[in-house]
Amino acid sequence: MLSDFSPLPPDPILGLSAAYREDRNPNKVDLGVGVYKDDSGVSPIMAAVKQAEAAILLEEQSKAYLPPVGTEGFLVGMQQMLFGENHAVVLDGRCKTQQTTGGCGALRVAAQLLMRGSDSATVWVSTPTWANHVPLLGDAGITIREYPYYDYTTHTIDFDGMLSGLEQAAAGDFVLLHGCCHNPCGADLSLSQWEILSGYLGQRGLTPFVDLAYQGLGDGLDEDVAGLRLLADTLPEMIVASSCSKNFGLYRERTGTLSVIADTAEHADNALKQMLNVARGIYSMPPSHGAAIVETILQDSELTEVWASELNIMRQRINGLRLDFAEQAAARGIGRDFSHIAREKGMFSFLGISAEEVECLKSEYSVYMVNSSRINVAGMNSSNMEYLVDALAAVLA
Ligand code: LMR
Repeated sequence: MLSDFSPLPPDPILGLSAAYREDRNPNKVDLGVGVYKDDSGVSPIMAAVKQAEAAILLEEQSKAYLPPVGTEGFLVGMQQMLFGENHAVVLDGRCKTQQTTGGCGALRVAAQLLMRGSDSATVWVSTPTWANHVPLLGDAGITIREYPYYDYTTHTIDFDGMLSGLEQAAAGDFVLLHGCCHNPCGADLSLSQWEILSGYLGQRGLTPFVDLAYQGLGDGLDEDVAGLRLLADTLPEMIVASSCSKNFGLYRERTGTLSVIADTAEHADNALKQMLNVARGIYSMPPSHGAAIVETILQDSELTEVWASELNIMRQRINGLRLDFAEQAAARGIGRDFSHIAREKGMFSFLGISAEEVECLKSEYSVYMVNSSRINVAGMNSSNMEYLVDALAAVLA
């Protein structure tokens, strides 16, 4: 039977890293996988993380299993990051949170939870959405439908199209929303759009399912969850998958949470028990190290300050690169408008060029990005910016 499998093409995002590694061009540029890089092209370990790790190494007493839900300090810290201090959904016990193996683990446990609720569970995803959303949720058996989101010609959100697309959703369906820093397009809902959306979802009986993978990398730690908190203020139910990969730089430690908000504390408890049972059937227990780092940072006000200021620097660097790129591309006289790159948020934007042009950038100039022309802005730096803009000018001439 094992000989029956046919080969699979490389993952559309992860496959880029392997191709980039093998490329011998000394000028190669990696704008592929969404990993933060500093100006020297390195994905650094944050200083706050290093300090927390040193403390953990000294203090850790046991490698016995964690509680399946995760440790209390981690869960409390993460809930505060998501909802702020003393949010009613937390105080009233309507919000329950479980530690997961990264944001992907949270999405997968959520998908299986929804399938336990109904075998016709339907999740509406934005067009476009992260390339892994559909396989990750769909493999659990969820029905996936799409709503319009990004207008590729104006590089803005088609908010009217979004709401009219969701007219086809049935009460009880889930709507997957990117909490901030939309992956892949970088175009985020404004607060007034979140407000309208919240009223709309409530009226239609649709439940928000928020994927929050970039908190702190858009406008700031609190600013990036303003929409999420608004939904939590107003709606009876919500699901939130959150990741510590990017904002704590803990990619390989697989650290995240899945939170459910239900209409009563009892219903939230029941949902949590199901979530824990789903996880038990997949990976049983969460890993410790990443969550211990986050807990150590969030429980120590000095370390929290160090971490938050490092995160600020990362965000400012990305925003600076966005401006820089848009300015340099305009100055270079490339006959395309890249001004949207300066307006968008987080690590990703579409260049808005064709798949053939993306391929040409890769094969002729060793500039790597996802086929859709999604770029990881953090892959730009002061050494490769000029080369990148020159390569673009040549390919788009
Ligand atoms: C990305 O979108 O590049 C990241 O979220 C990494 C991944 O797993 O795809």
